[in-house]
Amino acid sequence: MTAGRGTIIGTGSYLPERILTNRDLEQVVNTSDEWIKTRTGIRSRRIAGAGEVTSQMASRAAVEALAMAGVTAAQLDMIIVGTITAEMVMPSCACLVQKEIGAENAFAFDVSAACSGFVYALEIADRYLKNAPEMKILVIGAETLSARVDWQDRNTCVLFGDGAGACVLTGSTTEEGLLASQLYSDGRLWQLLSLDARPRRYCPAVDYGVAAAQNNMPEGAAFSMAGKDVFKHAVREMGDAVVNLLDREGVSLDDIDLVVPHQANIRILKSLAERLDLSFKKVYTTIQKYGNSSAASLPVALDEANREGRLQKGDLLLFSVFGGGFTWGVMLWRW
Ligand SMILES: CC(C)(COP(=O)(O)OP(=O)(O)OC[C@H]1O[C@@H](n2cnc3c(N)ncnc32)[C@H](O)[C@@H]1OP(=O)(O)O)[C@@H](O)C(=O)NCCC(=O)NCCS
Repeated sequence: MTAGRGTIIGTGSYLPERILTNRDLEQVVNTSDEWIKTRTGIRSRRIAGAGEVTSQMASRAAVEALAMAGVTAAQLDMIIVGTITAEMVMPSCACLVQKEIGAENAFAFDVSAACSGFVYALEIADRYLKNAPEMKILVIGAETLSARVDWQDRNTCVLFGDGAGACVLTGSTTEEGLLASQLYSDGRLWQLLSLDARPRRYCPAVDYGVAAAQNNMPEGAAFSMAGKDVFKHAVREMGDAVVNLLDREGVSLDDIDLVVPHQANIRILKSLAERLDLSFKKVYTTIQKYGNSSAASLPVALDEANREGRLQKGDLLLFSVFGGGFTWGVMLWRW
């Protein structure tokens, strides 16, 4: 086969059953449904159940994506998981997924790029598929952020949620697949959004009520975030990245059928759309229901859009992400 590009042949997602609404959070910290809705667009988020860990959620999303793709776990050649909340430092979340789903022929590893982790992982998959289009690659974004949130800090605890999304990719020699992409990082700004290395296993049980009441979050175990700075950088960098990629590729925003972005804050997405002069109807959002689930947010949104029939063959899709590091990136896909 001639060198081609990566294309997505199946999507899947998993969201924990437990729903934490803004009203529930009013019982935990000094906040209000109104404040959270107007400042972030979030109405509820999903929270992992007691004992539910990142690799389990990732595996459940993977099984769905494999079923849609018509690929068996044994046919997989490679598994990449974008995550910052794996339950262990070693082995990787990807190795645990490999074991869980029985993908004995795949090699597996994690990518750490915060909310951009899934898109970074897709980029790696695409590079492999250019040289070996027959490969079948599973790419997952999965997070248990609830274990790393300080449930006494209203500045951060209202923002995040848990979940996992997955895609199966293979090589394409047609117009379909990843047309263009650009990834970025700026480690100089790391302090604006950070999380100490500490696997989920050694964090307190995920019971927001108990955690809040007992204040038992170990020092350094929770998110540290300069919200306003992050907001400003996200809008600017995501906007510049989209403009630069489309200019480079000679594609007009009018040609884009759907933008599937990282879901951090509805105001970030509205500012981005305004800056790009893009109708907000073309921006797919799940932030209202799921909050910010970091690397999981884009693949969960993609799977929902796919299952709702929002993605038609031949559509031009734009992925846009931003996260801690800072890391950010943009991808242009022909569906
Ligand atoms: C966090 C964020 C929602 C805060 O919104 P904001 O409009 O910047 O709000 P401010 O920081 O100006 O806070 C305004 C006030 O609300 C208060 N506040 C913060 N969180 C609150 C909450 N959950 N409920 C009620 N009040 C809250 C603040 O303490 C502040 O009070 P003060 O004026 O008395 O000091 C917003 O900055 C944001 O979304 N940033 C990006 C975060 C992000 O996406 N991170 C992940 C990136 S991948």
